[in-house]
Amino acid sequence: MPSPRLACIALWCVTAVALFGCRKTDDVAAPPAPAAAPAPAPKATAVRTTFGHLPDGAEVALYTLTNRSGMEVGVIDYGGIVTSIKVPDRQGARADVVLGFESLDGYVKNPPYFGPIVGRYANRIAKAQFTLDGKTYRLAANSGPNTLHGGIKGFDKAVWQSEPFAHGDEVGVALTHTSPDGEEGFPGALTMHVTFTLSNANELSLDYTATTDKPTVVNLTHHDYFNLAGEGSGDVLAHELLINADRYTPVDASLIPTGELASVAGTPLDFRMPTAIGARIKSDDVQIKRGSGYDHNFVINRTGSDLTLAARVEEPKSGRVLEVRTTEPGVQFYSANFLNGNTGKSGHEYHDRGAFCLETQHFPDSPNHPTFPTTTLRPGEQFHSHTVYAFSVK
Ligand code: GLA
Repeated sequence: MPSPRLACIALWCVTAVALFGCRKTDDVAAPPAPAAAPAPAPKATAVRTTFGHLPDGAEVALYTLTNRSGMEVGVIDYGGIVTSIKVPDRQGARADVVLGFESLDGYVKNPPYFGPIVGRYANRIAKAQFTLDGKTYRLAANSGPNTLHGGIKGFDKAVWQSEPFAHGDEVGVALTHTSPDGEEGFPGALTMHVTFTLSNANELSLDYTATTDKPTVVNLTHHDYFNLAGEGSGDVLAHELLINADRYTPVDASLIPTGELASVAGTPLDFRMPTAIGARIKSDDVQIKRGSGYDHNFVINRTGSDLTLAARVEEPKSGRVLEVRTTEPGVQFYSANFLNGNTGKSGHEYHDRGAFCLETQHFPDSPNHPTFPTTTLRPGEQFHSHTVYAFSVK
């Protein structure tokens, strides 16, 4: 117990600090300025502006989501593309941590898939076909013999209906789109709602739902290219990556899963402990050769169907940390193996390994692998998927 005398001195000190702050003694004589009212905390906002116009004249809107913790996210209604994510480093300095183009023109073609919603089927379907309920559907082939990311005109190239929202301290934008029956060869009209919500905890949350009027297959993801040191700042080889996966789906030479769920142990795909992305990227491992780096689906360790950690990435210099949590069974880790030749925001030249992607998803080519978690959606059912990108500093 402190003595009454000590308690008295302590009380005097607290009162003096409250009245005069940390002034030097020769300042104390001046009467204290009236305490300024605390500045009102800026509100979280979702602001709509025009981003550009498509070749047919249609307007594309940009929603700028800003929270009260220094984070800002840009989302456009063309492809649900995240055009920017500005987050503080450990000194509080903000940088844009996603790659992208300066203007809409770049996003209209967007060969690397910078930042969009990807569907109807994210990643590959072998030989551009699958059989469902005894009927074979032929799809558009846009990656050699395979269908990649929904075909020639995937959801990344659709204009979505959009509506901003604010619920207390959370702001966001809700996107809606119906893909007609037969688009790119997929059966059934698919109606989707995707919400992007920014919280004051620097978490960007993507919530997807979908319904269909005929049996179909669905696999949706978001294809952000992250560089936690700031887009255009160089390669990501020193970023430390952890992937919460004991197993992955090995691929053949055309990046189609063989069907096996293989252990990562003893391979360059073992990211169960934080490891620099570049540490083993030049390995002679056949999987790394086939992917021209990392381009693999990992089987997330999970016990239930709730949000579970998929991956955590830390950039040592800035201290920025990204945690990806999802309800999906898999995550594609792609080390941006084909970026050379893209000029991005503010004239930045992008190069291979200038970013990393963590695409939460069902496994590639699931419609042709009955042992994989199903991607079939039937009338009367609702597809639901939730992924959170949580930013912090260390
Ligand atoms: C995914 C694929 C890659 C590549 C990128 C986009 O990650 O698996 O092979 O297509 O998307 O270029």
